[in-house]
Amino acid sequence: CIRDRYPDRPMAIYPIRVFPDPVLRAGTSPVTDFGSELRRLADDMLETMYAAPGVGLAAPQIGISKQIFVADIGDGPFAMVNPEIVETSGKWKFEEGCLSVPGYWWEFSRPAFARARGLDLDGEPVEYAGDELMGRLLQHETDHLIGTLLLERLPRRLRKDALRDLRNGVPSSGNE
Ligand code: NI
Repeated sequence: CIRDRYPDRPMAIYPIRVFPDPVLRAGTSPVTDFGSELRRLADDMLETMYAAPGVGLAAPQIGISKQIFVADIGDGPFAMVNPEIVETSGKWKFEEGCLSVPGYWWEFSRPAFARARGLDLDGEPVEYAGDELMGRLLQHETDHLIGTLLLERLPRRLRKDALRDLRNGVPSSGNE
């Protein structure tokens, strides 16, 4: 587990940036330095994600405009650097939430299957793919790195209601 790589150093838990923090909408730069700093960042992001708790966390969510996300959907932690969705297929409806839009979930469709290509923490090419939760996670986290929140992926009407609820501080109305 990569969380144990720095036993003498306490992990850092970052505050999570929430909507409408502009850093969530800003673009990100590709990671070009692969070394201990990047590993520390990934470790801290995982710690922050587990503490939240969440199943994925992208760097802009802790105010860092770099192309990296971490995730663990139950099979163990992994990190992806400079990821890109290269294939999607099918359709899957799922109630999706985001640590940066806390307390809200919306049920909507995205492609069921997604394949993402990028680099690992050593800068080596890596690919992750999956359907349902894994497919959804890859799309959601890669979206964060292009400044896109799940709000932008909602169908128009649901999005309008969502933005109104957020503006008024109304708790998640679900999908009735
Ligand atoms: Ni998110």
